Amino acid sequence: MEWKILNEQMLHGGDYNPDQWLDRPDILKKDIELMKQSHVNAASVGIFAWSALEPEEGRYEFDWLEKVIDNLYNNGIYTVLATPSGARPIWMALNHPEVLRVGPDLVRNQMGGRHNHCYTSPYYRQKVWDMDKKLSENFGKHPGVILWHISNEYGGECYCPLCQQEFRNWLKKKYGTIEELNHQWWTAFWSHTYSSFDQIEPPLLRGEHSVHGLVLDWKRFVTDRTVDFCAWEKAAIRAGGSDVPVTTNLMGFYNGLNYFKFRDVLDIASWDNYPFWHTNPQDESQVAITAAATHDLMRCIKQEPFLLMESVPGVTNWHPVCRMKKPGMHELSSLQAVAHGSNSVQYFQWRKSRGSSEKFHGAVVGHDGTANTRVFREVATVGSRLKKLPEVCKTNVKPEVAIIFDWENRWALGEVQGLLNVSKEQSKNYVPTVLEHYEAFWRMGIPVDLVDMSCDFSGYKLVIAPMLYMQREGIVEKLRSFVEKGGTLVGTYWSGLVNENDLCFQSFAPYGMQDVFGLYSEEIDALYPDQRNKMVMSASGAEYELRELCDVVHVSTAQVLGTYKEDYYAGNPALTLNFFGFGQAYYLCARADQEFYKDFYEEIADDLQLERALDNAALPHNVTASLRKSDEEEIAIVQNFNPFPTTVSLENAVTDIETGEYTTHIKLEPYGIRFLLKDNVM
Ligand code: GLA
Ligand code: ZN
Repeated sequence: MEWKILNEQMLHGGDYNPDQWLDRPDILKKDIELMKQSHVNAASVGIFAWSALEPEEGRYEFDWLEKVIDNLYNNGIYTVLATPSGARPIWMALNHPEVLRVGPDLVRNQMGGRHNHCYTSPYYRQKVWDMDKKLSENFGKHPGVILWHISNEYGGECYCPLCQQEFRNWLKKKYGTIEELNHQWWTAFWSHTYSSFDQIEPPLLRGEHSVHGLVLDWKRFVTDRTVDFCAWEKAAIRAGGSDVPVTTNLMGFYNGLNYFKFRDVLDIASWDNYPFWHTNPQDESQVAITAAATHDLMRCIKQEPFLLMESVPGVTNWHPVCRMKKPGMHELSSLQAVAHGSNSVQYFQWRKSRGSSEKFHGAVVGHDGTANTRVFREVATVGSRLKKLPEVCKTNVKPEVAIIFDWENRWALGEVQGLLNVSKEQSKNYVPTVLEHYEAFWRMGIPVDLVDMSCDFSGYKLVIAPMLYMQREGIVEKLRSFVEKGGTLVGTYWSGLVNENDLCFQSFAPYGMQDVFGLYSEEIDALYPDQRNKMVMSASGAEYELRELCDVVHVSTAQVLGTYKEDYYAGNPALTLNFFGFGQAYYLCARADQEFYKDFYEEIADDLQLERALDNAALPHNVTASLRKSDEEEIAIVQNFNPFPTTVSLENAVTDIETGEYTTHIKLEPYGIRFLLKDNVM
């Protein structure tokens, strides 16, 4: 595969829509001038350009695109070439309505919007194949084309008859017989036993939602269909002769797709990041932590550096309140992605469109068409900084800590009726809970991976598995062997209750792990939102607040580190530790607060001597550091999320990669971020 510059320099640029300006050569000329001025070296072209590429069925017009790619290349700007499958031309929808998506109400959409397509329609697949193959034949070997941007933000579902039939085929393949499906889905409940695969419908608006196995399998099927569609597009590109790597832009914690399933089809992961900065201008940490964790999650899909494919210069047009990024925040937000493993800062969008729904969405170039804006200048600053960071491209983030975040577990938690009946989307607060564990490491400057149950845990020192309600096949064995061989595991309440089809284990929880944790859970209590219990630490007498879910466990071999203070389970274990094989397993019985996670993980970090980005440095509040490394180099990236300046003092001097300064006193501007070469490796 031809990786061209992807490992050699940071990409800077973004979504570029010359197809909206083909009658304005003056604008296209100005674009190049402004791109150079803002240090842009990569433009994502053609994302929604189908009607410019095939104005009527079978008539392809690629000349304009050739000119654009040539022109960019001649001016030192690479093309990230998109396949246009994210939106369709009108002729296609009118002539072949089967390409349009059908909703869970079984009503077919009208022409309009985007992502409004069926993944199964043979006609749509053929048209996409033809288009992608032709693009590949024409431009796949162009020296300016460095990456394929397949489609755009795949998402959503189609319930058309073709997709429903595919679902039935998928189920047949998974279960073999209808008897097995009935058993795994526990359909005898409410008398919903199927007698043939033909009777099965997906979870329609007014249809079956009480069979959780069905709901879960539908979500898995939607992911598989989407991955299959992406693989189809990739195959068309390869059939057209291009060897250039492919990506598709993902959406972080988006609930609708299990992104780990894209691991094999993508050559490089990329995603679109739109943090809600200044929700609380006094304390940006929760936004920063969510963004940091999402970068880590996206990096873990391939366990390689990823690309920030979209972010906004200025502000989006779809946040509930569209606060502008304050001066300095654009730089910090952009380079935060690099700190977590991105080899690019790309934007949506290069130039604001004149009309339609995104005309007020932030862009590098506004309707004024000039470089005389704060946004433009800040973008140019990011570009000039990225130019100084080519060596960062050759490094990656390699944590010793992994937190398990698993989409299928999230879906299953979302379906559970009982405990806390919050909305399905909230999945029993699974994501916020994962982020609470993550926060403790972010504050210590300890790198973290976010992995799912299918990932390999063997290289980590510490694995944290919050609310592992569902145990997918193989996870019990993997976690057991991880601890047996010397790893440290943190498990929590509401773990090990169901198998991957959401069938309850016929045992106490956590299934298959009771000897690992040295305990079993007998029952679990749920608290109303304003209710609290407390944990009293056995050694220190320190107290922490507990909330939401409280597991009532019985220990066999585990030591009790903390107990509940209140309620009928006062005195019962709230935190335990058990030694198993060469390793150890903690069990946290309830959702705790940040004070607890901080103290708890600081102690574990010391015990395990977890690698910190900056050794022996006290990080000021809301300042963090991440670490990228290769065999030759270690680069710490220190980030100040405060709107005021601060200093971090180090024991060992480091070299600022951009300025060459060699120092132990790292001064940080308000929202400052610095890349520091450590000289303890060589
Ligand atoms: C997504 C899409 C873009 C654009 C932006 C707006 O990320 O991929 O086309 O609509 O949102 O923020
Ligand atoms: Zn369909």
